[in-house]
Amino acid sequence: MLTITGYPDRIYARPGDTIRFMVSCESEITYRADLVRIICGDDNPDGPGYKEEELQSDINADYQGRKQHIHAGSYVSVSDARPLRALDSFTVQAFIWPTTPLKGKQALISKWDAASNSGFALIIDETGSLAIDIGGNGAIERVSVGAPLQLKRWYRVGAAYDAASGTVRIFQIPMLAVPDIADGGTKEQRLGVRMGSNRAALLFAAMPGDKPSGLDFYYNGKIDGPVITSRALGEGDCEALIGQTPQRLAFDIVGRWDFSKRMDSQIACDLSVNRLDGKVVNFPTRAMTGWNWTGEIMNYNEDPSQWGAIHFHDDDVYDAGWESDFAFTVPAELKSGIYAARLRGGGDEEHVWFTVGPAPDEESEIALLLPIASYMAYGNDRLGMDGGGAELLNDILNVINPHEIFLNDHVEYGGSLYDAHSDGSGICYSSRLRPLVNMRPKRQGTLGGFGGSKLWQFAADTHITDWLEAKNFKYDVLTDDELHDRGYQILAPYKVLITGTHPEYWSTEMWDAFDAFRQRGGRIMYLGGDGWYWRIAYHPEFPGIVELRRTESGVRAWPAAPGEYYQSFDRRQGGLWSRLGRAPHGLVGVGFAAQGFDISSYYKRLPDSYKPEAQFVFEDVDDEKIGDFGLIGGGAAGLEVDRSGGELGTPPNALILAKSENHTNTYLMVPEEFLETAPGLGAEEHVNARADMVFFTMPNNGAVFSVGSISWAGSLSHNGYQNNVSQITENVLNRFLDSSPFTAD
Ligand SMILES: [Fe+2]
Repeated sequence: MLTITGYPDRIYARPGDTIRFMVSCESEITYRADLVRIICGDDNPDGPGYKEEELQSDINADYQGRKQHIHAGSYVSVSDARPLRALDSFTVQAFIWPTTPLKGKQALISKWDAASNSGFALIIDETGSLAIDIGGNGAIERVSVGAPLQLKRWYRVGAAYDAASGTVRIFQIPMLAVPDIADGGTKEQRLGVRMGSNRAALLFAAMPGDKPSGLDFYYNGKIDGPVITSRALGEGDCEALIGQTPQRLAFDIVGRWDFSKRMDSQIACDLSVNRLDGKVVNFPTRAMTGWNWTGEIMNYNEDPSQWGAIHFHDDDVYDAGWESDFAFTVPAELKSGIYAARLRGGGDEEHVWFTVGPAPDEESEIALLLPIASYMAYGNDRLGMDGGGAELLNDILNVINPHEIFLNDHVEYGGSLYDAHSDGSGICYSSRLRPLVNMRPKRQGTLGGFGGSKLWQFAADTHITDWLEAKNFKYDVLTDDELHDRGYQILAPYKVLITGTHPEYWSTEMWDAFDAFRQRGGRIMYLGGDGWYWRIAYHPEFPGIVELRRTESGVRAWPAAPGEYYQSFDRRQGGLWSRLGRAPHGLVGVGFAAQGFDISSYYKRLPDSYKPEAQFVFEDVDDEKIGDFGLIGGGAAGLEVDRSGGELGTPPNALILAKSENHTNTYLMVPEEFLETAPGLGAEEHVNARADMVFFTMPNNGAVFSVGSISWAGSLSHNGYQNNVSQITENVLNRFLDSSPFTAD
């Protein structure tokens, strides 16, 4: 179990920037913080060993730790206002599509004060039926329709309360009635209690309760088009509120929220004259198909009014919002690298890491680009605990690590883009403003392959920093987060750009900036696998959160629903880059071909590798077999592997230097590589389930070298860094640092 968890407010910094550190301790311990530079995050005794450098800093001190909470659960909050407070009689109505109707009490629309038990709360009750609680004078009365809502079906629900007569009418109307399923009804009841007014906020999808947030009863499912009027309407008028407000009801409207407006914001727009805009909290999913989606159009930009739903989840989380314990301002003389506040206490150790880029005009010739978006995608993945098929996927016994047990006990830390919400829908937003407890040095992952390292993403990428240090290369550490924010200008000073081991998730802006480097004479070493696979979007306004729609095809942990393929953050269609007209093969020569997570294999040289123009790659390499050793699964070709293919866009000038072979049948082709299911999709039978090593030149003296394998970097340190993987990497890096043109000499 973990005792200390933390996160920084920013993931990359430059000299002069200040980073704040948010820390929570499970108990009230004192912890020690020290600034360290992370060099090798792998503590496998079979490898070079864990390496970090302790540095002098004014943050180095003891701190009193305390528990800080994360308040998961999404909702909309409309601040109290006179028109809401003045409500005496009212009608409330919305369309809902519940995903866990039998979960227990869930709030749909509430204006409830828990201290005085006054107000109203339209809820799904413990029986799964629509109900309303009316409170006043310390008493609460509930009226329930008494008919359980069905899962994932649209209903028009609401309540009309008439203060004068003291009656309430509630209704639950299925939009598509089904014979023999009693999931609708209306109930009218005279109440003994008279609703008391309060100053509480109007909430959608939550209401006041006993959780540390002060709220509870978070709702799972969609809400579309909530509306409130200032008098009790009959059924005819309620029905008339669908769509355009009729003139006769126009002045009864207190609030009419249209979630199809400003879907890239965290604002719930009220179209009424009162302008009671709400605040959307914890990033529930927007741009979701509404009750009126026809299925005739798939792109919400064509008619947003069919995407008026927000899908709320009781485990949505964006910014943990913790108080900071200390801050660090990057001094001018600090060299670029991966740094961390190392926190020790209570028998635990936590690294709250960040990168430091160089000061202006102080750039090295080499940049290592860490794929933060991909770290966020995998951040807090629960594959080992919840994935179910992890052992089958890996064909090795699953090891459950302490951080995975911790996550299992702390739903509120949120999941990854590989996990599902508690209602089974896929998580499509991931934030780094919470501790991502698996993206840490030393921490092993479910997907890291057989052997003692088992590293994935962040920790695996430190095999590259370790090698660069061992070989005395001077390099800078950049992040794709900054690339998204600032564009090509941050790459322009460099001769060579080295990727991480698994740069899978790219925003359009990141892709364009990377491609600009490639087109303008930059030299690229893609030392990973399954890169440039999914398009993502960053939020235009809120930092540290990315969006993914797992559309149509690809290796998918969950499927985006029909009509929900367009990203809410940037209005673009999401999904596989190869389905969006930009295959990675065209960018770096190779693209995702197969995956397996048991034993990594090796490459064998191909005839192209003996051509004069490729000679520099294999200088001092006598072996035919490349990388039949390594810390990640035991070989340089493994986990997720990429192949070349002219039919997929590999440039015709690419040299295919080597290809991997002898993978186990745990390695299966990615689904977009085949059209029909048939035997022979495993690597033992299918020639396309392989990694290719390619080299090609670009205009303006640029070049690309790709290995197409996640496990490549895990082989660099073998035999004291003296091995053919290390030699090839060094040969290419040295040649790429040499600005002379590539000729076949
Ligand atoms: Fe991946």
